[in-house]
Amino acid sequence: MDINICGIKFKNPIVIASGPGGNGKELSNYINLSRLGGFTTKTITYKPKIGNPPPRIINIENGVINSIGLENPGFEEFLKNDLPFLEQFDTNIIASIGGYNSNEFCYMIKALENTKIKINELNLSCPNVDKGGSVILNDVEETKKIIKETRNATHKPLFVKLGIEGNLEELAKICVENGADGLTLINAPKGTKISLKDRNMDLKRGYGGISGPVIKPLGLASVYRVKKLFPKIPIIGMGGVVSKTDVLEYLAVGATLVGIGYGVMLDPQLPMHIIEGLDESST
Ligand SMILES: Cc1cc2nc3c(=O)[nH]c(=O)nc-3n(C[C@H](O)[C@H](O)[C@H](O)COP(=O)(O)O)c2cc1C
Repeated sequence: MDINICGIKFKNPIVIASGPGGNGKELSNYINLSRLGGFTTKTITYKPKIGNPPPRIINIENGVINSIGLENPGFEEFLKNDLPFLEQFDTNIIASIGGYNSNEFCYMIKALENTKIKINELNLSCPNVDKGGSVILNDVEETKKIIKETRNATHKPLFVKLGIEGNLEELAKICVENGADGLTLINAPKGTKISLKDRNMDLKRGYGGISGPVIKPLGLASVYRVKKLFPKIPIIGMGGVVSKTDVLEYLAVGATLVGIGYGVMLDPQLPMHIIEGLDESST
């Protein structure tokens, strides 16, 4: 089941979504990362980020709400420790990049040019930070600038990751018209949980991002809406994938690749079971 995106071959449509798979070290204890179509890094920011105060992940029915806040050791540490580990595997690495402005995005993308990373994915939709993330999308001119300048800074395919906040069709159009080669849909939509005992929000920031099967209909509809508008644009579809059927549903609405995030928290071996299931049905 070979797939081709902007000249890059994927051995199957399964990619690990940014975040729950970290930068692969823990997950590699459970699965052979070389079996994956692709692996998306945890979002990397220029400077280290300590993330949000706990609790950072709370369970809800059919999913979780996370408020990690893009915790990561920063770009230099990523280059030193995480990237060499990932580069050992025969899978396509997708770099998820976050930042406050186009200078930070461009600096990182240029520095990644001579690495084995195959696709750069701009995370413009993180729901859990006060600066950067989905806040950027409120500023159309800044969004255009970041996409245009990062497009000019690399020869590699450029994807933009969007959520469901804002006008999806309008934002997708801005991404494509300013140089995005593909889109990743969807990031975790904002949601909250409240304890009636003390009427307190369970998360310190009041809300976080929802992942898991509870958001699958939102992810499917988002892929469908964007694919209708831009039939030729490759889409990495995600949101609530925990079975082979979920993958087939995303492919049916127009995704070219399908991401698994929450699913690896549920069962780290899930991506392998799904790949084996897809292999069996194609033989
Ligand atoms: C614990 C956790 C951490 C995440 N961290 C990131 C991140 O760093 N960057 C990003 O683009 N998305 C992040 N996400 C969102 C996922 O990549 C994905 O878009 C979302 O969870 C929907 O897919 P899923 O239901 O398969 O998890 C995170 C999700 C979870 C649950």
